[in-house]
Amino acid sequence: MLDVALAPLGPWHAEATLRWLQDPVVAENIGLRSTASLERTQDFIARAAEDPTIAARAILEGGVHVGNVVLDHIDRHASKARLHVYVGEATARGRGVGKRAVALALDLAFGEVGVDKVWLTVHAGNANAKAVYLAAGFVVEGVHRAEFVLRGDRIDEIYMGVLRTDLARARA
Ligand SMILES: CC(C)(COP(=O)(O)OP(=O)(O)OC[C@H]1O[C@@H](n2cnc3c(N)ncnc32)[C@H](O)[C@@H]1OP(=O)(O)O)[C@@H](O)C(=O)NCCC(=O)NCCS
Repeated sequence: MLDVALAPLGPWHAEATLRWLQDPVVAENIGLRSTASLERTQDFIARAAEDPTIAARAILEGGVHVGNVVLDHIDRHASKARLHVYVGEATARGRGVGKRAVALALDLAFGEVGVDKVWLTVHAGNANAKAVYLAAGFVVEGVHRAEFVLRGDRIDEIYMGVLRTDLARARA
């Protein structure tokens, strides 16, 4: 049984986060635009703790920090938020940690954060991430043609969403 939990992202998570953002597997797949630095990472973590439109959490496996989930663009009017996830520690990938972390992130979004919809985008080549999102209850809502730039190639970006009511039905 996997022991996966989410904890508030704090300054002590900055170094591992930076290491993962410098890993091309993470940076390319999440579409990182700027070069990561410790200062930027620390700034993001400090801002996220204060900003009501962001809920950032560390993914812990057996108490060890292995990745992050971030809900941002929390929009109270439309009652929706965007989800980002990365299991940064390569040894933690492909074992179900991402799947569990996304399920916990949805509990956070529909529970404590209190929105009614979670959306995300994923590039068309990221089959692993797509599988995780579909398993969590997301559905494909559309395709933004050639909107994602991956190593210089323009590829499709898939828009996925899950409603509070979808999840209640899927988990019933
Ligand atoms: C995407 C990511 C979060 C998934 O987390 P993970 O812990 O590696 O994934 P899990 O082990 O929970 O689940 C992987 C699922 O994808 C499936 N999968 C793996 N490779 C696949 C492939 N090439 N095609 C289809 N499905 C695939 C697995 O079979 C598994 O599904 P199952 O449990 O039904 O067998 C993680 O790999 C990651 O952080 N990658 C780098 C950053 C990234 O891509 N983030 C997402 C940006 S949108």
